[in-house]
Amino acid sequence: STVDWEIDSFDTGGYEHYLLKEIHEQPTSVERTLSGRLDERFSTAHLGGLNLDARELREIRRVKILGCGSAYYAGEMGAQLIEELARVPAHSEPASEFRYRNPVIEADTLYVAVSQSGETYDTLAAVQEIKRKGGRVLGVVNTVGSAIARECDGGIYLHAGPEVSVASTKAFTSTVVAFALLALHFGRIHDLSPADGRRIVSALQALPDQIREVLDQSEAIAELAAEYAGSAGMMFIGRVRGYPVAREGAQKLKEISYVHAEAYPASELKHGPLALISPELPTVALVPDDELLDKNLTTLGEIKARSGRVIAVAHKRPEDRLVDHCVLVPKSEPELDPLLLNIPLQLLAYHAAVALGRDVDKPRNLAKSVTVE
Ligand code: AGP
Repeated sequence: STVDWEIDSFDTGGYEHYLLKEIHEQPTSVERTLSGRLDERFSTAHLGGLNLDARELREIRRVKILGCGSAYYAGEMGAQLIEELARVPAHSEPASEFRYRNPVIEADTLYVAVSQSGETYDTLAAVQEIKRKGGRVLGVVNTVGSAIARECDGGIYLHAGPEVSVASTKAFTSTVVAFALLALHFGRIHDLSPADGRRIVSALQALPDQIREVLDQSEAIAELAAEYAGSAGMMFIGRVRGYPVAREGAQKLKEISYVHAEAYPASELKHGPLALISPELPTVALVPDDELLDKNLTTLGEIKARSGRVIAVAHKRPEDRLVDHCVLVPKSEPELDPLLLNIPLQLLAYHAAVALGRDVDKPRNLAKSVTVE
């Protein structure tokens, strides 16, 4: 069975849909996730609920993150943050896959379960499997007192507020922010320098205003969505930090607009999916201004050479010959760029769903909380 909620028991706050309301709540939900957790003096983060002291954390050699759907993609962003800031190997895996493959549970691995609802059956079962074998699990959970939160040894609550729409937006963003805090804390007890810690603290503090800047472009993104919503499908591409963004963007589009979408690492295009590129299959490309910019621009050239249409989500507008449209987002620190690059993709999916007349908040065949296997 599935947990059912009464949609009318919440308020859309003047927005046409809960989803749009939740997308627009992100500046404040991110503030709540950060609230009281940043330490400017030591350029680190405080996370009261971890139940792990610095000595125990230093003994951790690997991090394994588990979740389903968007929680799993948020975990992929989290794994990158942990590897980049703490230099500890980290990996995200779908909780359902993990629990069915008789996983090896190691004493020096930190397991992290991610769930907005805290009730997703596959994620709960993965937590129980780890605990049964003596592993230590942290929860990154939105719903206080939920089954997963209760089962974990400690964790980080998102404080994002209730998320009503089936498609996860503000909880997704807050999950990535929670991972940034964990990675910062973990990094600063390893070798992340005070200067780098300060860089991340300031970037986290700047996020709410930067999210507002992206949300201000909602109308322009609505026009784009209306133009492309009729496409038979869409390709989403990104490299390294951009790849989980592409995966989450494709997931959001599929989920609420029912338009087929595929996400690929940009460098994998030439190993197969380039054959699909044509004017009928537009590509959404994540093009952050980072060390991989030139490589990403080369990929755009390869798509344009096959008459593909390109919507770039970028920090700087690429040359006209490389893109058909460009949505600009403010630059953060490179490690945190994925958070902001993802926001236009939420709006793109939302407006595409509206243009197609979909049931935005309750897409067909899906439930907010999947409490079955
Ligand atoms: C997100 O838009 C989806 N509705 C879905 O993938 C969701 O993230 C997944 O079912 C996990 O839910 P949870 O975070 O409540 O565990």
